[in-house]
Amino acid sequence: MRQFHGILGILVVFTVVCCGPKQNEGAGGAQPKDIIPAPVEYAVQPGIIRSDELARMPEKVRISEGAVRRRLKGRGLVDWQIKSAYWLEVGKKRVTIEAADPEGVFYARQSLKMLASLDSSVVCCTILDWPRFRHRGIMLDESRNFQGKDFVMKQLDMMALLKMNRFHFHLVDNPGWRLQIDAYPRLTQLTAWRPEPDFWDWEKDEVGGDFLEEGTPGAYGGYYTKQDIAEILAFAAERHIEVIPEIEMPGHNYETRAAYPDLACSLPEADRPDQWELCPGKESTYEFLEKVLLEVFDLFPCEYVHIGGDEAGKRNWERCPDCQARMKAEGLESVEELQSYMIRRMERFAHEHGKRIIGWDEILEGGLAPDATVMSWRGTEGGLRAIAEGHDVIFTPTTHYYLDYHQAPDQYRAAGRYQPLENVYAFDPMEEGIAEADAHHVLGVQGNLWTEWVHEAWHAEMMLYPRAFAIAETGWSPASRKDYPDFERRASAWAAVARKMGYTVYGQPN
Ligand code: ACM
Ligand code: ZN
Repeated sequence: MRQFHGILGILVVFTVVCCGPKQNEGAGGAQPKDIIPAPVEYAVQPGIIRSDELARMPEKVRISEGAVRRRLKGRGLVDWQIKSAYWLEVGKKRVTIEAADPEGVFYARQSLKMLASLDSSVVCCTILDWPRFRHRGIMLDESRNFQGKDFVMKQLDMMALLKMNRFHFHLVDNPGWRLQIDAYPRLTQLTAWRPEPDFWDWEKDEVGGDFLEEGTPGAYGGYYTKQDIAEILAFAAERHIEVIPEIEMPGHNYETRAAYPDLACSLPEADRPDQWELCPGKESTYEFLEKVLLEVFDLFPCEYVHIGGDEAGKRNWERCPDCQARMKAEGLESVEELQSYMIRRMERFAHEHGKRIIGWDEILEGGLAPDATVMSWRGTEGGLRAIAEGHDVIFTPTTHYYLDYHQAPDQYRAAGRYQPLENVYAFDPMEEGIAEADAHHVLGVQGNLWTEWVHEAWHAEMMLYPRAFAIAETGWSPASRKDYPDFERRASAWAAVARKMGYTVYGQPN
């Protein structure tokens, strides 16, 4: 993410956002109308239960697809929605949950947890609920700043409470490679470590700085071992969250080239205007990528791998003899087609191993790989084009979902656009003119936290929350339930709970 940088202030001042009246003060208990994301259908019933008693009350769980389908009759739901749907009844004597699948039971329990933590009592009620979109995601950039396993697990916990279900793990990029790869140990022995903790101190003139050998005193960085990833995956799976790893290609590979210089185009240093691209001409580049991906496929059970594809400079390819030879041999007429050749080839490789690819919207240029899912980040145009070409899309536009942008004029370090909570909440992919017949191509929505400006864990959380609450609601709740003033009331209440749970949430502490 290189666009729109600019420091926007240095003071941490907790003001402005998310400071409506305190939730449920004297209101007589939490109700379904108080939770995030807003549930689809609910009713309150006579009776009120103390929240601490609720946790001890008997719970009757019934997993029956037939029963859930009968309850949901006439709502026009598709199979993946039914799998996540739940019926929850908070009665005076017991809690009843009905779902087609353990996933639905899990979501019912998240609603219950949220109700019980919002107030000291909960009003007896029923909820019938299901998600609107199947991808409700957060992306964390661990390359520019490395937070590590405990931080990730803590955010997975909050995502689960918000019924978010996709964690996009941006593990590799110019300032650091963060994943153990046995075939290429230099990636973590060298390029997981750098002299400067601060990204901007490290990056010089839009070009990366130096790396340090692992174990060098004072080196900043870190990486995930395969054991760490296995622990994160188990933790995520318990919360019905899928982890999608991103292995960037062909751009954003400054660190990869530092570890394995042969992966760059074979040009004299002075004749290499682009600093972070792999050479798509050399066969050895594909050998490298395939070996890396094989280890990634072995590690991550997810159906998808994200292959990046964004912001590759292509000037080296115009001059590189290997790139030129490849273009000639493959009948490619432009460097955009050369990138597309690489992405298509990696898609074929992924398919051979039972995987599908996701790429940033630049993968449209030069021709989209046949089965690729597009992550639309430069606004929504790329997403709309991909849908018109019959592809699936995840919307994560800079205009609404870039969580490195500041959320108030006085915010501590942040990238240079203004992205307050209301603006995040306002986005709805279906308002972009997508035909009903194409709606199934909209997989969902995702907030992206790039970390050029974000070093400390508390700062990362402050950028995530409360804005992730808004993305969760757009991802789960029906469009007809969206109501910003009401959301702000609920976000304020949930922010107070989240702070008690130990999260840093932007806005006035309540
Ligand atoms: C991106 O922000 N470069 C996807
Ligand atoms: Zn080349």
